[in-house]
Amino acid sequence: MRRAGTRRRFIAEGLRCEPRHRGQRESKKVNIYLDSKMTDEARRKRLYDGALFVYSPTPSALSLCQLARELTEQAFHPLHPTKLHESLPVERCAEVLAVLKPKFIHHPQSKDYIRGMLAELGCDLDNTYFDVPRLRSAFPGDYLRSGIAYAFHPHRDTWYSAPFCQINWWMPVYPIDSDNCMALHPNYWSVSVKNGSSAYNYDRWNRESRKNAASHIKTDTRVQPKAEEAMTLDPDVRLVCDVGGVYLFSAAQMHSTVPNTTGTTRYSIDFRTVHLTDVWSKYGAPNVDSACTGTTMRDYKRASDFTSLPEEAVALYLDGTET
Ligand SMILES: [Fe+2]
Repeated sequence: MRRAGTRRRFIAEGLRCEPRHRGQRESKKVNIYLDSKMTDEARRKRLYDGALFVYSPTPSALSLCQLARELTEQAFHPLHPTKLHESLPVERCAEVLAVLKPKFIHHPQSKDYIRGMLAELGCDLDNTYFDVPRLRSAFPGDYLRSGIAYAFHPHRDTWYSAPFCQINWWMPVYPIDSDNCMALHPNYWSVSVKNGSSAYNYDRWNRESRKNAASHIKTDTRVQPKAEEAMTLDPDVRLVCDVGGVYLFSAAQMHSTVPNTTGTTRYSIDFRTVHLTDVWSKYGAPNVDSACTGTTMRDYKRASDFTSLPEEAVALYLDGTET
C-alpha cells in the first residue's frame, strides 16, 4: 500500500486494505487476492462478499490484448493510439472508434481468447457464460469523455440491469498508471446511495441509446443511472496490473473511470461472466440500492459452445418490461 498524490488510495500489493471510517458509517475491509489458486466456486463466493481478485497475464489474455492493439493501431495508423489527442481532431477520433470498437467486440478471435482465459483461470466452461468483450478508451483531460469513450461516473453495474451474480473482468491493453486506470470504491459495498437506477430499463437503453453513442462527442445527453447524493470517493482502490493481467470484481461493486492526468490514453478490455448454478439459485451479491428494470441475462453465451442461457433460467429474471 502506498500513498500517491493528495488522494488516499490503495494499490494492490497482496494485502488486506482497511479504509478508514466514512463519517459514522461502518468501515469495510477489502480482501484482495493475488494469483489465487482457489476454486471458481470459492472465488465467486468471495466476490459476492466484496472481495477483489487480481491475476498475472495468461497466454490467452495476452493474445486478446495483442488483438486489441493490432486492430487499434491499424485503425489509427500512422498515429499511435495512446497519443491521438495530440494531433487528431476529436470528431475524427470518435468516427474511427465507432468502427473499431464493434469490430473488436465481434471479432471471431475475441470469443476464443476469452474462452481460453476462462479455462486458464479455473472456470468451468460448461457452466460459465460470458458477454462480448468491450474495448474502452480513457483519453487525457477533456479530449473525449462522452459517447463512444464515455468516462464512467461512480456506478454499480447492477444499476444497469446486471444480475447480482455477474462478475466483471477488467484488463489493460497498454501499460497503465494509477492516474489513468479505473477506481473501485469498496467503502460503498454495503452502503446504499440514493441513485437514479429506478428510471433505467435495459431494453429501452438498447433500443434508444446504445447505438447513438458515437454522436455524443462534447456532451452526453443519454440518461444514465447516477448517484443523487454527494459521495465520498476518497479513498479508492486502484488495481494497476500488467498488460494481460486481469482483475475480477462483483457487478455490485461501486467503480468509476479515473480522470486521466497522464498524457497517455488508456485502453482496456472488460467483459462479464455469470455461472449457471448461481443463475438458477439467484445467488450473488446483496442488493443495497439497485432499482432498475429489465435484465442483461440474454447477453451471456456459454464458454464451451457460445449458446445462450436456458430460457427457463432467463425467465427467472424477467419482470414484464422486456419487449
Ligand atoms: Fe461498470
